[in-house]
Amino acid sequence: MSVRRLAPPEQQPASFAFTPENLAWAKREMTKYPEGRQASAVIPILWRAQEQCGGWTPRAAIEYVAALLGMAPIRVLEVATFYTMFQLAPVGRKAHVQWCGTTPCLLRGGEEIKKVCQRRIHHEPFHVSADGDFSWEEVECLGACVNAPMVQIGKDTYEDLTPESFEKVLDAIARGESPRPGPQNGRQFSAPLGGDTTLTTFPSSPAPLPNHPRQAGEGRVGEGASGKA
Ligand code: FES
Repeated sequence: MSVRRLAPPEQQPASFAFTPENLAWAKREMTKYPEGRQASAVIPILWRAQEQCGGWTPRAAIEYVAALLGMAPIRVLEVATFYTMFQLAPVGRKAHVQWCGTTPCLLRGGEEIKKVCQRRIHHEPFHVSADGDFSWEEVECLGACVNAPMVQIGKDTYEDLTPESFEKVLDAIARGESPRPGPQNGRQFSAPLGGDTTLTTFPSSPAPLPNHPRQAGEGRVGEGASGKA
């Protein structure tokens, strides 16, 4: 897990303000919470600020959101530095790849996915590619271990990756396309690859269990040996 710090001053814009559309949206979000609890809207509003800033959250945006929600700036900074969904420095124009480097993904070939990031984007995380289109970082488990190895790009996850299928995802994004998220090996969600392996038959009349009271002529369950409760 990398240290999460704000970008250096030379990369920070001097100011930030929501567009009129985003400000109207943010004010609607704030009304979803009881009076005095507007701070509860911090994550969606900070996320909208990040989207407006091209995929990262400058210091000015953190301070703007704090003022909007009546929060101390340090409280919003805590949120921005805790959640890896918030980028604290400029990222690739087309995609920022969050590569999962936790054990299940590594056991399933995650290191090979990382090598693709290093070769195609930059050898080091948090560096933008030469064309400015891509960047990457390592994150902890993203909750899709059953489809390991995987990466998250924006709001989407790309799973069951091989170096080849991951390169196809990057190629599509580079062309301006939106590749289909989810498993990249053809399976549906986390269903078994190759079809069902259990419960493949459904007998129309299940055989009675051995020693079942009805089979032994002892009446219904709950009845005595005489057949009466
Ligand atoms: S370990 Fe990669 S998603 Fe959980």
